[in-house]
Amino acid sequence: MHARLPNTSQAAGKYTYPVMATVQRDPSGGGRRPPRPSPLNHVRALRGLLKDPQPVLDQLRKQVGPVCLLGYGPARMAVVGGPREIRDLFANPNESFRWGHPANTLGFVVGRGSMIVSDGEDHRRRRSPVQHAFAVRRLQQWIPMIVERTDEAIDDLLARTGDEPTTLDLYPIERHLILQIVLQALFGERMLRRTDEFGHHFQSLQDYLELPALRQLPHPIPRTHRARAAADRRALDRLIDDEIAERRRHPSGDPLDVLEVLVQDDTLTDDEIRDQVVTLVGAGYDTTAAAFAWMLWCTALRPGVWERLRNEADSVLGPLDVDERPAPGPEQLRALTLADRVVRETLRLHPPGTISPRQTLVDVTVGDVTIPKRTLVLWSAYLAGRDPEAWEDPLRFDPDRFVELTDEQQAQADAAWVPFGGGARRCIGFALAQMELTLLMARFAQRLDVRPTDVKPPAPVGMVVNRPTGGVPVTVARRGALDPSA
Ligand code: HEM
Repeated sequence: MHARLPNTSQAAGKYTYPVMATVQRDPSGGGRRPPRPSPLNHVRALRGLLKDPQPVLDQLRKQVGPVCLLGYGPARMAVVGGPREIRDLFANPNESFRWGHPANTLGFVVGRGSMIVSDGEDHRRRRSPVQHAFAVRRLQQWIPMIVERTDEAIDDLLARTGDEPTTLDLYPIERHLILQIVLQALFGERMLRRTDEFGHHFQSLQDYLELPALRQLPHPIPRTHRARAAADRRALDRLIDDEIAERRRHPSGDPLDVLEVLVQDDTLTDDEIRDQVVTLVGAGYDTTAAAFAWMLWCTALRPGVWERLRNEADSVLGPLDVDERPAPGPEQLRALTLADRVVRETLRLHPPGTISPRQTLVDVTVGDVTIPKRTLVLWSAYLAGRDPEAWEDPLRFDPDRFVELTDEQQAQADAAWVPFGGGARRCIGFALAQMELTLLMARFAQRLDVRPTDVKPPAPVGMVVNRPTGGVPVTVARRGALDPSA
């Protein structure tokens, strides 16, 4: 029997109000304007979207369509959730949109020089050296480091629990591990001892981004979330500035150290390098940690998957009782095919970004509708991943759905699987994230027995990063120590 994931829109009965569509003609004679919900339900949909987006998105998709217009004037938004329409959106030139729009409060956190809030030539110039530093060939050299850090985290966990099965939340443990991996990739091994310091400063920035939009508006009031976030950002700046200065004085020659690559590249000023580094840690760590939290839920709940992952890891990475195992490399990573499919399937159902914003600068046609210029577009990897026309039985967690696809099915799956976005703004860390998640999954399944404390996955939480409410509470033990019949 296969476990089924609950349909969140059905689970949250309060959102099952009727959303009737109304269609407008584009006065300029272009394509059809996207439909809107009925006025009665408009405000409720807008409020719900900002508080708890997934049930609202499900309703809008079902009752209005793959593209839906909300709000008016400067507060106009378009939700784009159909795979075809998202593909059209990504195919538009970067110049059709802007990310550095006034409603984007990210700039306060990651810095005005970050690629994530830059447009046009500034974006290209700031993205290019980072993209080079994240080339797949270079990333693959981090494989042994990722496995080593993972083994250390598991050793620590088992030392804490002794030989007794213990009930605890795995989320903070794997989140700390993923922060360590990102920090080591960016700065080398010596920054590991400052992981907690980084984690502390980033937490305050993330808390600020989770505040309701109005509370994020600029103001100079002391002792508020915004004041705390500004202080933590200044502390991060000092940490990173010291590292940049150190590399200018004494280059380490380490080709795996991303910061050193950026410093030597000479395209970016030191202030720009610092903003990219804050962006990379911020964009790379909570997203990956949330994805792994959902992976643990999905694999532990679906009968047989944990054992299959363990068998695959044994045959690819070598049995645990062999002392002198060769360090894994790209060949082993490629052979972890089930773990890779588990990553894909989890990101399909639970993409860390439920919606991602960009503002149109010109009219943009997607599918058979035209989104007017100056609209905040919220495209949704969550809706595309659950689209009933693209995926058979879309709410079912089934990593084997990606096996032996025909060319046509593969193309359909590629178009509807967009957790990392697409086009010129596609996630720069997608290869790193997929690599980390695959290796962590293999190693956790190989070394640990895990039993969730609940029989179904929790509801999602988080406006910026979609993660499971309550983390990942499980009973955990050394491999073979949990009674499978209990
Ligand atoms: C499972 C993990 C991750 C997911 C689901 C994810 C998702 C995304 C998405 C959807 C975008 C595009 C947003 C848009 O179109 O506006 C994006 C952009 C970005 N991501 Fe990721 N990301 C992940 C991990 C990472 C990692 C590990 C890093 C780096 C260490 C990273 C760095 C970035 C950066 C720098 C951008 C901005 C790219 C640009 O503006 O050109 N991400 N990510």
